[in-house]
Amino acid sequence: MRQDLELRGDPLGRFYTDPAIGQVFVSLFDRRQANSILDLGSGGGSLTVAAARRWTDARIQTVDVDLGAEEHIRTGMASAGHVHHDHLVADVLDENLPEMIGGPRFDLAVCNPPYARIKWRDGFSRILAEAGMEGLQTLPTPALSSDIMFIAQILRLAEPGAEVGVIVPDGLVSARRHRAVRQALLERVRVMRVVQLPRRSFRGTEAQAHVIVFRNERGRGEPVEISRLDADGVSSPIVVGNEDARIRMNHGYYQSVTGTLRKGFSLRGIGAEITRGSLSSAQARACREPVFHTSSFNQPSTFDYRLNGAGVASDRPGRRIAGPGDILLARVDRNLHRKICVVSQGQAILSDCIYRIRVPANWRDAVVRGFLSDAGQAALIGATRGVGARMLSKEDLLALEIETP
Ligand SMILES: C[S@@+](CC[C@H](N)C(=O)[O-])C[C@H]1O[C@@H](n2cnc3c(N)ncnc32)[C@H](O)[C@@H]1O
Repeated sequence: MRQDLELRGDPLGRFYTDPAIGQVFVSLFDRRQANSILDLGSGGGSLTVAAARRWTDARIQTVDVDLGAEEHIRTGMASAGHVHHDHLVADVLDENLPEMIGGPRFDLAVCNPPYARIKWRDGFSRILAEAGMEGLQTLPTPALSSDIMFIAQILRLAEPGAEVGVIVPDGLVSARRHRAVRQALLERVRVMRVVQLPRRSFRGTEAQAHVIVFRNERGRGEPVEISRLDADGVSSPIVVGNEDARIRMNHGYYQSVTGTLRKGFSLRGIGAEITRGSLSSAQARACREPVFHTSSFNQPSTFDYRLNGAGVASDRPGRRIAGPGDILLARVDRNLHRKICVVSQGQAILSDCIYRIRVPANWRDAVVRGFLSDAGQAALIGATRGVGARMLSKEDLLALEIETP
């Protein structure tokens, strides 16, 4: 593998798993014995080498299109003392992959696929059909990314009942646009658990990702165990009904709506009005009047923000104005959970990265203190989505359970 790899935007998605995460990853499987293990997109082998150490007698097949990966994976397998290993340099998205690999099917698979949009190829219909996921062909093509096609290829190669662990991006478990994919997956396989990984689990990116562990058998509406990995290890699971899992499977969200919260309220429940700002970055830069953007959260007192404008314009679609009494919250930002304030005087036009929240005056204090409490911060982080920059949807913000401070 090239050391000078341009990690951001790498076309092969070569973001390698930290070996320590690889060890936790293999501990999430139930299976004590495995005869044959598959790793598609094996890279340097962080997952495979961990698998070789756990299932010492298994035959292992790795596949990667990157010519440079082979030497690294062979070195890793040698250090694990594992000899039953074959490596294939090939395109995992090739419809003829099963023929290229040959041999018996696999009873266990580990995988950290690339997350990239891919152009539709004729062979994909056959791959999805033979994986038992033909329903996904009707999805708009942008929704079908390389990670889903990797899962389909695993299913073509897996024995009935095989256990599979795949690292997937946050969007697949939480975004609304992937709901059809979650539904198809929960019907096609028996999803046993989903574990939210720490942001620094991969070299070269802080992407939020999750491990999904499933069995190659039809899902029958079973509940799913959802937990997270942090410095204390894997948390005890929250058991989520199959219907809820179709909506989202990220631990952060379920943690925010169960367990730790005592008496709470939601913005929807108190009749809050949430309005998204409207100026794009380019419009904000060109604007001659005061604009409030995520970089404007820079005053010392959260409850006493003084804005520069006066009589800037009337509030209307395309030109949203903040004024005294408004709560402002970042909508898109790495640290959006910390970017909150109450306007005490002045006005500004809002950029489209800001939410304006209007609540009855007697609730204002409780809302802001609730968000700033430890539970509120955790709930806000849990409700965000996104790889790198976090993003909070209006629906999730309205539904978020806020603990009364
Ligand atoms: C996210 S990395 C994961 C590597 C390794 N499994 C790990 O966890 O560290 C994805 C890997 O998939 C490989 N890859 C990307 N597209 C591929 C394709 N079409 N066929 C085969 N391998 C591919 C990349 O070369 C890279 O090694």
